Amino acid sequence: MKKSSPRLERPKTFKQDNSSLSYSPKLCLYMIPICITLLLLLQFQSLQQWQNLVFRYTALVSPQNCTITTTQDHESISQKLRDSVTFLPLKDLRFSKQPLDGHTWFMSSMYDTREEGEFQHQQFPSKSSKHRLLCLKGRETHDGSWNYYALAWPEALPSNATLMKGLTFVAYNHYNFDNIWHGLSAVMPFVAWHRNNNCESPARWVLYHWGELRFKMGTWLNTLMEATFGQPPYIEGFRDMEDEGRSVCFEKAVVMRHNEGGMSRERRMKVYDLVRCKARVYCNVSIKRRVNHEGPDIGMTLLMRTGPRSFRNETAVIRIFEKECNKVKGCRLMVAYSNNLTVCEQVKLMSLTDILVSPHGAQLTNMFLMDRNSSVMELYPKGWQKAAGVGQYVYHWIASWSGMRHRGHWRDPNGENCPYSDDDRRCMSIYKNGLIGHNETYFADWARNVINDVKTKKSKEEASRHGPAPITTCDCS
Ligand SMILES: *[C@@H]1O[C@H](CO)[C@@H](O)[C@H](O)[C@H]1NC(C)=O
Ligand SMILES: *[C@@H]1O[C@H](CO)[C@@H](O)[C@H](O)[C@H]1NC(C)=O
Ligand SMILES: *[C@@H]1O[C@H](CO)[C@@H](O)[C@H](O)[C@H]1NC(C)=O
Ligand SMILES: *[C@@H]1O[C@H](CO)[C@@H](O)[C@H](O)[C@H]1NC(C)=O
Ligand SMILES: *[C@@H]1O[C@H](CO)[C@@H](O)[C@H](O)[C@H]1NC(C)=O
Ligand SMILES: *[C@@H]1O[C@H](CO)[C@@H](O)[C@H](O)[C@H]1NC(C)=O
Ligand SMILES: *[C@@H]1O[C@H](CO)[C@@H](O)[C@H](O)[C@H]1NC(C)=O
Repeated sequence: MKKSSPRLERPKTFKQDNSSLSYSPKLCLYMIPICITLLLLLQFQSLQQWQNLVFRYTALVSPQNCTITTTQDHESISQKLRDSVTFLPLKDLRFSKQPLDGHTWFMSSMYDTREEGEFQHQQFPSKSSKHRLLCLKGRETHDGSWNYYALAWPEALPSNATLMKGLTFVAYNHYNFDNIWHGLSAVMPFVAWHRNNNCESPARWVLYHWGELRFKMGTWLNTLMEATFGQPPYIEGFRDMEDEGRSVCFEKAVVMRHNEGGMSRERRMKVYDLVRCKARVYCNVSIKRRVNHEGPDIGMTLLMRTGPRSFRNETAVIRIFEKECNKVKGCRLMVAYSNNLTVCEQVKLMSLTDILVSPHGAQLTNMFLMDRNSSVMELYPKGWQKAAGVGQYVYHWIASWSGMRHRGHWRDPNGENCPYSDDDRRCMSIYKNGLIGHNETYFADWARNVINDVKTKKSKEEASRHGPAPITTCDCS
């Protein structure tokens, strides 16, 4: 009580005021407890009613009675859920420094389902999406941060949303769907999904690059997807989404943004087997190479490029390989230009090829269309080893993934000079499009070794085969 509390002082001030004011605040203070007591008495009277009310309410919301109460409640709850669907930008600029890491910058709030040895993916609706559907908004083709995604329960889709029936594949490609290597890498996990899910085919594809919509695949990829899924891929254009505010939701959607990342070698091989097999059926090429009873048939193909990374002297290169091939019975040399072959011509050519010789470049992606265990010989122009980074080994990788044997590479020691140091990335702009020379001694030795090895292997295989080759069918047919 040492401190002088304001409560003790206050009456003093009141008293001072007393004289000038016409009513008494003291009286008012006395009135308050009286009022409260009166109110409480009233409450006691209505307590019985309150209890009744509470009891009735509990009865109303009890499960047996939900049909009666829910119609209205549900409507208002659905409306609230509908209004609370939040669209986020497909491309999240906060992650532009590591756009491909982890949850990536594409649909960055979502996490992938990862299983040992399997592709990383997201599926909607699913347990992990809490049974919500995927919805998309926007037709932007230049800036992916102006396209949007959201999740919504089927009972509470965003206002004015269109529900698209069937299965939708949503593919993310960090590069593009025209390049056969990058295009194939982006769609492979979808083929794997198809294989794992009773061969279910998509009703449509939605293609994104950096969150921007893309409306077509290159011809090569389009044809292989038509062959694999039994119908030309329908690529969603969202034509009726002209109206800015409109969104679409998908009855069932699968999203992939990590290419083949996470898949084991065995899994990948099965997927390449499936595409190879389907492509051969589609192109009317026999699934299995015919057996030649006079000894193994060895197809060696020089797959040429025109322009960048073509041979400086094609005639000389062809002559070297021809000479070695001619020395071995059953060896046929084929020379082809990838740019003037139709897709089915490429499929057919690869089905007849055991040894593929080609400069580093996207045309080498065709290698997976050869029979398993076939051989690849790759050639680089000058400068790639130091300046090109790990990307230069993609055809070593696809050889391993598709069950082929990469028989090494040759690097041209000659070519244009770069004014910077050898490993300077700026040199790539010079080396990238360099031409490729030849070394007769090296090429001849290399070709001889590979041809003989293939001949030995094929002879052994044919000797061990009894009776007609088993009839094979593709997975998913
Ligand atoms: C359901 O509600 C009705 C009307 O409110 C009531 O008559 C009935 O007893 C309730 N049924 C149950 C099982 O609670
Ligand atoms: C839905 O569409 C109608 C007609 O196009 C429009 O008037 C309305 O504003 C839209 N509602 C929303 C929430 O966008
Ligand atoms: C394959 O053969 C069928 C039937 O003979 C034909 O209709 C189809 O056009 C052929 N496909 C190709 C790619 O040649
Ligand atoms: C290309 O190689 C052939 C055979 O070695 C040779 O005859 C020809 O002169 C060469 N052409 C050029 C342009 O060097
Ligand atoms: C394929 O292309 C090469 C080079 O462009 C050309 O020399 C050749 O005649 C073409 N072949 C066919 C069958 O069109
Ligand atoms: C490929 O080669 C491996 C090892 O030589 C062998 O086990 C496998 O059966 C071969 N596969 C095919 C499809 O020929
Ligand atoms: C060609 O290759 C052989 C065998 O690898 C090598 O000894 C020779 O130095 C090479 N020639 C040139 C000009 O690089």
